Amino acid sequence: MGVLLVYDPLMIQSHQGEYQVKFTNDVWFDEIESETNHYIIDEKIADCYQEALSKILQSPSVLLIKATESNKALHQFPAYVEHLVKNKVRRDHRFIAIGGGIIQDITCFLAATLLRGVNWWFYPTTLLAQADSCIGSKSSINCGNTKNILGTFTPPKKITIALKFLDTLDRVDICSGVGEMLKVHAIEGIDSFNSIANDYELLFTNKLIMQKYIRRSLEIKKKIIEQDEFDRGIRNVMNYGHTFGHAIESAADYKIPHGIAVTIGMDMANYVASNFKFGSEENYLRMHPILKKNFSKFIDYDIPLETFINAISKDKKNKGNNQLGLILPDKKGVPTRTFFENDHRFKAVCKDYLLTGRTL
Ligand SMILES: NC(=O)c1ccc[n+]([C@@H]2O[C@H](COP(=O)([O-])OP(=O)(O)OC[C@H]3O[C@@H](n4cnc5c(N)ncnc54)[C@H](O)[C@@H]3O)[C@@H](O)[C@H]2O)c1
Ligand SMILES: [Zn+2]
Repeated sequence: MGVLLVYDPLMIQSHQGEYQVKFTNDVWFDEIESETNHYIIDEKIADCYQEALSKILQSPSVLLIKATESNKALHQFPAYVEHLVKNKVRRDHRFIAIGGGIIQDITCFLAATLLRGVNWWFYPTTLLAQADSCIGSKSSINCGNTKNILGTFTPPKKITIALKFLDTLDRVDICSGVGEMLKVHAIEGIDSFNSIANDYELLFTNKLIMQKYIRRSLEIKKKIIEQDEFDRGIRNVMNYGHTFGHAIESAADYKIPHGIAVTIGMDMANYVASNFKFGSEENYLRMHPILKKNFSKFIDYDIPLETFINAISKDKKNKGNNQLGLILPDKKGVPTRTFFENDHRFKAVCKDYLLTGRTL
């Protein structure tokens, strides 16, 4: 890998003060071999990066966790708390998370609740976590059969992004992160989206281009979360592709990675907007080829309509009995919050998309 661009750290304002996002070239851990650190690490990362992590893995308090949805469910937390208590955790200690969104959610939730607050640092290792979820303060924990139903707003004190971690990711996990990057660029505007769309293939082969778009994705998200950290207003727009995407994930029994479901979700939002004349067909056609490329591995994946409609009907952004809270592109292609009747016509358009619109 060539040498990457040296960027100034990105500074993010939050209700708990300012925090820093640093970019590094290699897998490199600074100032963090301390007696008062508790490491929470993706088991797979501990395996793939044994050498870089060798000192850390010998620290007194290391919690290795397999990155699965069931491991970020509430019933697993007593074991995590027990480990930390056994290792004499105190309020002035620090949690250090090394992993993707699952390790982030677990650590963030522990940092918010254990002893009413412990500082944490984050080394994101997936593209989705590096380009999107690492900033924005949210933790999301599963409980019973409901995904991401519990959560807090608890930013880390520091984030370090080492692009080297991306070398060991599967293409499908890269596409998942790219899905969220396409989303924020679409929110920024047509020119931003066209720029990343034109460079789409290079994201998989050119680290400098990838680094540029990770940084740009975080800059776009920063502008939104700094205005509305608690997601009561304009941050809602970040749900573009997500209402459809969450229902797709659920209907596919979570076999489609999050960012890829979001990619299908954006395409579906564009299709629905075009069909209802809320948005334009031109916008759907403009974005479709690149979105389709990003979800190509799942293009024929069975997404049963009834399960999909059932899941979207339960979305937490819905209103009243039958109003679906959606983010749809308007006539100018700007993702906009709106409410739609969950009726026969809506269902017919969704059916159309799942049967034909997806594969056109
Ligand atoms: N809190 C938030 O703001 C937020 C935002 C988006 C998503 N999420 C949550 O994040 C989770 C998804 O996270 P994710 O997509 O980052 O992935 P993940 O943590 O689920 O990891 C995906 C897979 O990649 C592996 N992996 C991680 N880093 C690797 C590396 N460098 N090389 C090889 N394999 C690696 C993991 O072991 C796992 O098998 C979901 O639970 C989602 O709900 C949270
Ligand atoms: Zn997302």
